[in-house]
Amino acid sequence: MAITKEDVLKALSYVEEPDLGKDLVTLNMIEDVAIDGLKVSFTVILTTPACPLKDLIRSACIRAITTMVDPAAEVTVNMTSRVTTARVDTTVLKGVKNIIAVASGKGGVGKSTVTANLAVALAQSGAKVGLVDADISGPSVPTMFGVEDARPVVYRTPEGQNLIQPIEKFGIKLISIGFLTPAEHAVVWRGPMASSALKQFITEVEWGDLDYLLIDLPPGTSDIHLTLVQTVPVTGAIIVTTPQKVAIADAVKGLQMFRQPQINVPVLGLVENMAYFTPAELPDNRYYIFGQGGGRDLAERYGVPFIGEIPLVQSIRENGDAGTPQILEEGSPATAVFKQVAEEVARQVSVRNASMARTQVVEIKA
Ligand SMILES: Nc1ncnc2c1ncn2[C@@H]1O[C@H](COP(=O)(O)OP(=O)(O)OP(=O)(O)O)[C@@H](O)[C@H]1O
Ligand SMILES: [Mg+2]
Repeated sequence: MAITKEDVLKALSYVEEPDLGKDLVTLNMIEDVAIDGLKVSFTVILTTPACPLKDLIRSACIRAITTMVDPAAEVTVNMTSRVTTARVDTTVLKGVKNIIAVASGKGGVGKSTVTANLAVALAQSGAKVGLVDADISGPSVPTMFGVEDARPVVYRTPEGQNLIQPIEKFGIKLISIGFLTPAEHAVVWRGPMASSALKQFITEVEWGDLDYLLIDLPPGTSDIHLTLVQTVPVTGAIIVTTPQKVAIADAVKGLQMFRQPQINVPVLGLVENMAYFTPAELPDNRYYIFGQGGGRDLAERYGVPFIGEIPLVQSIRENGDAGTPQILEEGSPATAVFKQVAEEVARQVSVRNASMARTQVVEIKA
């Protein structure tokens, strides 16, 4: 009996995406089924670039065809990826699939460092990435990307709208207040002005199509956070903390803010930064100078995914100051850690998009 497309899809409907808990056919992950005698080929559209489950899914597909359709079938599985979205509205930033806020309670725990490395890692895996430096009074993106002198061009669309062209570096589209004001001029913003500047910085930018737009937030829980969730539909938040008691206590506040019923932005996970110190000359030694396991415990206590722990290493700081995010330094253990963190974030976004309510702009009634 000749193999049919229906046979193939039937068999693949028994293959489950382990993270998403549904089968590949239901998830619309199968395309381009082609059959020529015993030759069967199809494409699996993964939901994250550099999906760690790639090989597992491939072998499960082959097994399904050879056990349920024909043991003699010659199966070719092509793999590609398409990042999913959970957006309903497509009015603001219509080409942006996922908007991810990176927050902390305490300052200086490494939000900007994590965001910069996450952005480059996601771009390296093949995703289209943008980054907004929402730290209006203390922007760090220009330094961390080595673009202190960049000045974005503003142009007028035929419809008469002014659009800012983001600065591109390492494949990331960047925007920061630091591009508009010289570094030595401290900008002191009144609350409403800061909010309206941020709004403009997100919505009046030519982002084009993006898989992920990361937002590097200032520390704490401020007006800026409220403005963000009221301006764009935020897919989820990543909370960064150090293991220290004071940082953990503040991380809880950050987490609770996103979870307030009127805000209701899912927390995609918790990153523990500066988890332990490793000297370059003794790479196997770990010193838990800020305490051990605080981040992991917190994630467990509040039922949020634990994304990973990033060591305190001198090269992370040096690379940040030099404008070349750590992730660009191939072969170092710290780079490998950031890669894992990025994979896990992409995975949590895809799980969130498959399982939770759609994202909407938050309306807060006064
Ligand atoms: N894992 C790390 N190892 C070494 N240095 C780090 C690490 N993470 C961050 N740093 C350094 O710590 C300092 C603070 O980091 P960063 O600016 O990313 O924190 P932040 O949370 O964004 O701060 P702020 O609250 O001021 O926005 C920077 O000099 C950065 O290079
Ligand atoms: Mg910062």
